[in-house]
Amino acid sequence: MPSVLLFGATGLIGSRLAVDLKTAHPEWPLTVFVRSPAAESYFKSAAVDRIVYGSFSDTDLVRSLSKEHDIVINAATSFDGDFITQVIAAMEEKPEHSKGTLIHLSGTGNFIDHGTTGSFNPDSKVWNDDNEEDIKLINRNMLNGPSDTPVLEAGERGKIVTYVVCVAATYGPNIGPSSSLGLIYTILTSNSKQLGYVPYVGDGTSVVSTIHVADVVPFVTKVVGIAGTQEPQGSAYSRYYMLHGERVAWKDLAAALAKTLYAKGVVGSPEPKSVPMEQAGEGPKGLIASNMLIRGDRAARLGFKATQPSMLVSIDEDLARYSL
Ligand SMILES: NC(=O)c1ccc[n+]([C@@H]2O[C@H](COP(=O)([O-])OP(=O)(O)OC[C@H]3O[C@@H](n4cnc5c(N)ncnc54)[C@H](OP(=O)(O)O)[C@@H]3O)[C@@H](O)[C@H]2O)c1
Repeated sequence: MPSVLLFGATGLIGSRLAVDLKTAHPEWPLTVFVRSPAAESYFKSAAVDRIVYGSFSDTDLVRSLSKEHDIVINAATSFDGDFITQVIAAMEEKPEHSKGTLIHLSGTGNFIDHGTTGSFNPDSKVWNDDNEEDIKLINRNMLNGPSDTPVLEAGERGKIVTYVVCVAATYGPNIGPSSSLGLIYTILTSNSKQLGYVPYVGDGTSVVSTIHVADVVPFVTKVVGIAGTQEPQGSAYSRYYMLHGERVAWKDLAAALAKTLYAKGVVGSPEPKSVPMEQAGEGPKGLIASNMLIRGDRAARLGFKATQPSMLVSIDEDLARYSL
């Protein structure tokens, strides 16, 4: 029975994943690595086997846990290349007969077209997880490149097995022990709060790919199940899956977000505001002005299908725990 280690267990995705893993594989020992003791009762009631308290800066602990477990899941960060490099280095110290598997969560922010006008561009590249040549184009300059690149390189070296699950802008309520909104909502809410309004760029027809956390989690659990029971197939580039549901125009997303944030007193108007890219705020302006076009044909072959309601109708419920 493979032992499993989960980094990021209190996050939007990680908190549901911990529960789903114990439901799917109750016999597989699951360790969660968390910072806050306040999370203890949540994981105890999910029958998680071991809770280890620590932060990424506890490098000896991160390394020893990564080496000790058969399957390591990174649902904590896809930006921090130093963290994942440490995890990989420790896992690669294991002998060939007990080779470890790293399952890394990444983001489709890698694949924005870097548009600046905020308009839909029908000629932009559509990145497909079923095309290994697309995955080979991932590099350190992309949004999640600092972590995706070392993961893919490690997978190709072959001292560990790697899988990457690359998620679109992920929404849905956090049912876990922390109030984290997840990456995309954190970026969008903090930017709007700082500006005092919810921006979109130009005519706002540029699109962002989205996915509900409840669609993400069962797929990650499926990949963990495959990793724990089957020999890896193909190259590291073929074990890269893109998960997306609806493509949403940034103007429509901004309109829904503005209503919710206005009701919470975060912004001064229930209407979003069209601005040039330079005025869309520091955090997300590259995202908001761009198109994010992806296809998850490989994930679909493995059974992935998005079924949850649209982000546009989910925002109110998702941000219920958000306070100023
Ligand atoms: N949500 C999205 O829209 C989205 C889109 C694309 C990619 N992703 C990727 O998917 C993964 C999960 O995303 P998420 O939205 O679920 O993230 P999240 O809600 O922000 O959760 C991050 C998790 O990482 C933990 N963490 C952060 N820094 C840490 C540190 N220094 N030491 C120990 N733990 C630390 C957090 O612990 P605390 O609770 O203690 O803070 C939390 O458990 C990330 O790699 C993210 O980049 C997410």
